[in-house]
Amino acid sequence: MSPAHRRSQPPAVCWGPACARRVRQEAQQATVQALLQALELKDPYTRGHSERVGDLAALIAVELGAPAARVEAVRLGGTLHDIGKLAVPTGLLRKNGPLTDEERRVIQLHPGDGDGVLRGIAVLGEARAAVLHHHERVDGAGYPYGLSGGRIPEAARIVAVADAFDAMTSTRSYRSARPDAPALAELRRCAGTQFDPMMVEALARALAARPPAPGFSGPAAPATPEPLPTLCGATAAVEGPLLARVAAHPPTWAWLDAGAKGKGVR
Ligand SMILES: [Fe+2]
Repeated sequence: MSPAHRRSQPPAVCWGPACARRVRQEAQQATVQALLQALELKDPYTRGHSERVGDLAALIAVELGAPAARVEAVRLGGTLHDIGKLAVPTGLLRKNGPLTDEERRVIQLHPGDGDGVLRGIAVLGEARAAVLHHHERVDGAGYPYGLSGGRIPEAARIVAVADAFDAMTSTRSYRSARPDAPALAELRRCAGTQFDPMMVEALARALAARPPAPGFSGPAAPATPEPLPTLCGATAAVEGPLLARVAAHPPTWAWLDAGAKGKGVR
């Protein structure tokens, strides 16, 4: 049978719950891929970043002992975390140079816009909470709702760490990739203010346990060491009471609380 003839055939018909589940999964994957392609066309910077953040988020969730279904929800949340940037003007997304206050305000709408884009896709569930809250900070200084500590859904706290780590360790057009160690050090410096320390340490453990990729001989050192960007300000300090507040919310993976469901948040 020629490829052209195969293409003209109707899809194979299947029956039963397993078939329905498979069709739903395929439809979900196709939808996610279409959304990501649209975002990458608009903002080439995000090429590959979305999938890497999804993979890193899944790595953290596995390290925390999450069941398989939740790992996939966290992965999906990481993959789609910036989908709301579809609503940001292209010129602003690609702007070189500092942003004005108004431009920053527009960009900070993207978590809410992402939540709006995904609202009609019921199967996303917890992944949407990660999209909506991935720029919250555990000290309450993030956005869009200024949630703090354990009120931030766990999936969002995971994705925040994965997002920052990939941003520091992947190659950008204006600089080479940074090694894992200084990036982890920066995450640890910001643990307790910007990031949940539990998620940072889970990432560190997962990376330490991860076998190197075939042929990988360690990250190449840049010819001239480049300083890492500071994620949480030069004087960020770990706050004792805040750490206690975060520690009071261990990863029970039953976090569909008010924050995760969006109740009491808006
Ligand atoms: Fe974002």
